[in-house]
Amino acid sequence: MVAVCWLMAALLALGEAVPVKFVDCGSKAEHIIVDITPCPSLPCVLHKGQTYNVNITFTSTTSSQTSQAEVYGILAGIPIPFHIPNTDGCKSGIQCPIKKMQKYSYINSLPIKSEYPSVELVVKWELMDDTKNLIFCWKIPVKISS
Ligand SMILES: *[C@@H]1O[C@H](CO)[C@@H](O)[C@H](O)[C@H]1NC(C)=O
Repeated sequence: MVAVCWLMAALLALGEAVPVKFVDCGSKAEHIIVDITPCPSLPCVLHKGQTYNVNITFTSTTSSQTSQAEVYGILAGIPIPFHIPNTDGCKSGIQCPIKKMQKYSYINSLPIKSEYPSVELVVKWELMDDTKNLIFCWKIPVKISS
């Protein structure tokens, strides 16, 4: 137990990615791993003025020429669009065209602006293919903090 705790602490200190437990919201892809760094536990505490690294590894079950991301903050059940620097998945670590049964890592960042309110909300991150079908869709609880 002590050894496990020490190991966890060492990993966190190194900023090593620990997969985040997420709620799936209609992903077509398989074997999805959501890594948000740093986010050692849920809800993810996101500090204003910081940028968080997002790494989503998945195996696509469809082929697509393009991929477009949409991010929402869901507050009291209402989805509010969240700004991300680049919505093009093909410029976020994914080599397009996306091929069936191929593994990809989608790499992006989540900047937390200082003007954001200090609230708890759910982040929903979608990646859509050519036909607007969801390659992945996941949700995690976060807490925006100063
Ligand atoms: C993203 O995560 C995958 C699987 O955990 C890993 O193999 C890959 O190196 C990571 N990429 C980056 C840029 O962190």
